[in-house]
Parts: sequence; C-alpha cells; structure tokens
Amino acid sequence: MGNDFLTLAHARYSCRKIRNDVPVEPEKLDAIAEAALAAPTGCNFQPWRLWVITDPIALEKTRSATGFKFGGSAMLVLGVRPDEAWTRKYDDWNIADIDGGIVGAHILLAVESLGLATTWIGKFHQDQLKEAFPQMEGCRLVAMFPIGYAAEDAVPAAHHAESRTEAELVERI
Ligand SMILES: Cc1cc2nc3c(=O)[nH]c(=O)nc-3n(C[C@H](O)[C@H](O)[C@H](O)COP(=O)(O)O)c2cc1C
Repeated sequence: MGNDFLTLAHARYSCRKIRNDVPVEPEKLDAIAEAALAAPTGCNFQPWRLWVITDPIALEKTRSATGFKFGGSAMLVLGVRPDEAWTRKYDDWNIADIDGGIVGAHILLAVESLGLATTWIGKFHQDQLKEAFPQMEGCRLVAMFPIGYAAEDAVPAAHHAESRTEAELVERI
C-alpha cells in the first residue's frame, strides 16, 4: 500500500464546521460521484443510489431531517436497495448495508482528497427525507454527507485521535 493512501486516511476527520458561503465546484461533486461508482459491491450489483443536492430549498429540506448544523454548501444522501443486493442464501444475509458502507467510505476519502470536508451523518429521519424527496422511496437511506470547505477554525473532535491499540483489534495468526 502506498504512503499516499495512508497519508490521506490519517488526514481525514469528521468536520462539523463547514462553510456555507463557498460553493463546491460542480467538477468536485462529479469526482465524488465517480469515486462512489468505483466502489466494489457484492457481485457488482451496485444496489445503491446517491443524491447530490445543491438547490438551496432542497438543501434546507435535507438539513431539517437531521438535528445537526454542520453547514456545507452541498448535501449528499446515500441510499441502498436491499432488493437489488446480493443475499448469501444459506443464512439469508443481505449485504446491501455493507455495499453502502463501502460506497460511503469511498465518498469520505474522495472528499478528503479534493480538499473538501464532510462528516458521515447516520442520525437523521429517513421518513422525513423520503417525504420531501419521493424519488428516495424504495431505498434504505444510510448516510447524509454535508459537503463544503472546512471553516478556518474547524478542528477534529477530541475523540478523533482516540484509537484503540492495534494489539486489541488486530490478531496475526
Ligand atoms: C456509519 C457512521 C455514522 C455516523 N453518524 C454520525 C452522526 O450521525 N453524527 C455525527 O456527528 N457523526 C457521525 N459519524 C462520525 C463518527 O462519529 C466519527 O467518524 C468517529 O467519531 C471518528 O471520528 P473521525 O471521523 O473524526 O475520525 C458517523 C460515522 C459513521 C462511520
């Protein structure tokens, strides 16, 4: 693994103070979508949808579906479709959420690589989003990503640096 990847992975943090006043360049939003498309999924079924929201009225609707006020000039909403995902037959394990997690990880790292900031938001009301955006019906909405440039005084949360030890989490057999 190249050092470039480790540098990127260590630089990323959940940014909760994102500028509203500087729009994200459309090419950067396109690059994030491209990174999402490059994500692997079970059987390559790609059972996910991404909504890239920049319209101010629509943005406000997304914000009211979560209590967080992290800012940002764009919002991504990521959904998965269990009905399109691979299911492991012997124990009936549907892997839609895993696929969505991988797509989300690509998005987090793409955002970092483009000099932008975000936080994965899992705490939101998906029913409220679906009411505002009928096209989201049929998906399990797994993440919202406010996107934009970090405020000058944005810092990682204290627990960002709290990592459990490798010995605790990784066993070499
Ligand atoms: C699946 C998932 C859901 C998350 N949901 C939220 C959330 O709803 N609100 C929030 O402030 N942070 C949320 N986070 C961010 C985590 O709290 C954060 O990634 C973790 O504390 C590690 O900090 P770091 O991202 O700065 O390294 C979520 C992260 C993940 C991966």
